[in-house]
Amino acid sequence: MNTLTRFALGLMGQLRPRPAVGTVLPTLSLPRPEQHGGLPLMEALRLRGSAREFSDAPLPLPLLSNLLWAAYGVNRTGDGRTAPSALDAQEIEVFVALPSGAYRYDAAAHALHLVAASDVRRVTGYQDFVDKAPLDLIYVVDHTRLGRVPVHQRESFASVAAGAIAQNVYLFAASTGLATVLRAWIDRDAIARALGLSHDEQVLLSQTVGYPPKE
Ligand SMILES: Cc1cc2nc3c(=O)[nH]c(=O)nc-3n(C[C@H](O)[C@H](O)[C@H](O)COP(=O)(O)O)c2cc1C
Repeated sequence: MNTLTRFALGLMGQLRPRPAVGTVLPTLSLPRPEQHGGLPLMEALRLRGSAREFSDAPLPLPLLSNLLWAAYGVNRTGDGRTAPSALDAQEIEVFVALPSGAYRYDAAAHALHLVAASDVRRVTGYQDFVDKAPLDLIYVVDHTRLGRVPVHQRESFASVAAGAIAQNVYLFAASTGLATVLRAWIDRDAIARALGLSHDEQVLLSQTVGYPPKE
């Protein structure tokens, strides 16, 4: 589906998920993430960039596990995470759109919990590559966790927190040869509907990840 068609469908409220592909599991346990190795930080920074062409090859589960841990996993004793948040509110939820369904990332359990038994990738944005790339991450703020933050600062603080997670994904992608792009040009209502979000949850950004296309 091209960008124009997708945009028109979005305007009509008709951007809908597709049936899930493969086995739909209520919980997907992720293998223990590797917390070492990868490119030196300065090299990953040198390679960081946005890409908008993807192969449709799926990401192996160990790679997905490492990616999610790098994005926003628990990285120390207690519940500290790989990305900061104001007052340690940890208000960002990372949703994971795969061909086999949409999941919420549970960092404490390092597992994925099913939220929609459908392929919601095409709902995550207007750009044509979202149909092809094997993974879309969706960053959602849970406003119930921001009670201690003044109301007028909540959305900006949450956007900063989501941006930090996105940069972790950019650096992980640079380190592992994956392609990625952060996206704000998205249909937030369609995504919220597809994920079954509550009124307290607000979609901020989406990020596509996959292998670069074969030469
Ligand atoms: C908040 C934000 C929103 C963005 N939204 C989009 C988007 O909707 N679609 C897209 O293709 N790129 C999007 N980008 C990626 C930028 O276009 C990209 O970072 C910029 O062109 C610089 O390129 P680089 O990331 O390769 O350095 C976004 C980046 C940020 C930080």
